[in-house]
Amino acid sequence: MTVQTEQPQPGKPFLYVVVCAAGAAADVGELITAAQERGWETGVIATPLAMEFFDTAAVEARTGRPIRSAWRRPGDPRPFPAPDAVAVAPATFNTLNKWAAGIADTLALGTLCEAYGLGVPIAVLPCVADALAAHPAYRASLVRLREMGVRFGDPYGDGAEFAWERVLDLLPPAVAAQPQPTVGPASMPPV
Ligand SMILES: Cc1cc2nc3c(=O)[nH]c(=O)nc-3n(C[C@H](O)[C@H](O)[C@H](O)COP(=O)(O)O)c2cc1C
Repeated sequence: MTVQTEQPQPGKPFLYVVVCAAGAAADVGELITAAQERGWETGVIATPLAMEFFDTAAVEARTGRPIRSAWRRPGDPRPFPAPDAVAVAPATFNTLNKWAAGIADTLALGTLCEAYGLGVPIAVLPCVADALAAHPAYRASLVRLREMGVRFGDPYGDGAEFAWERVLDLLPPAVAAQPQPTVGPASMPPV
């Protein structure tokens, strides 16, 4: 399979799709297809555990890019362009709580923590069972993330259908990217 690195397709905004280790991740291909139909170029960043939850080869074939899960080595080029928007789906209890607490011990979490500072729109579809969602730490995490401007789709709990397109509805429409002035390494995101 041929995979791209670095440069986005000309004129297409770049969407990071962050995938966590929830059962719903098996169908994340639906989100990739829907995003592409709406004009996004997509790159997938999965938590290390999430790599066991979906067909990574099929998703790489669909995006045309390797899935990122581990940090790059110092000195390596950034494999993805900077994001124009971020969709987190499915989002786990674990990752949401750690993100809200500012923990960045996976590439996915580091990317999410940094996305706030970059000021790009972020939309989330939680996939958290009711029994976990009742935990007070989770409620506090949602409050903090909403205060940061993160947009949430309807909480997904036991028995509901996972509405992949809802996370795209929460983002601005994909608008063709304008040419950006060249910026130096110090202003580039580290991930
Ligand atoms: C089969 C299976 C399904 C799971 N589904 C969910 C889920 O829907 N939501 C959730 O928050 N955790 C779920 N978990 C637990 C997470 O995988 C676990 O908390 C993990 O630490 C999350 O890691 P991550 O947030 O880095 O992806 C599931 C675990 C297994 C084994």
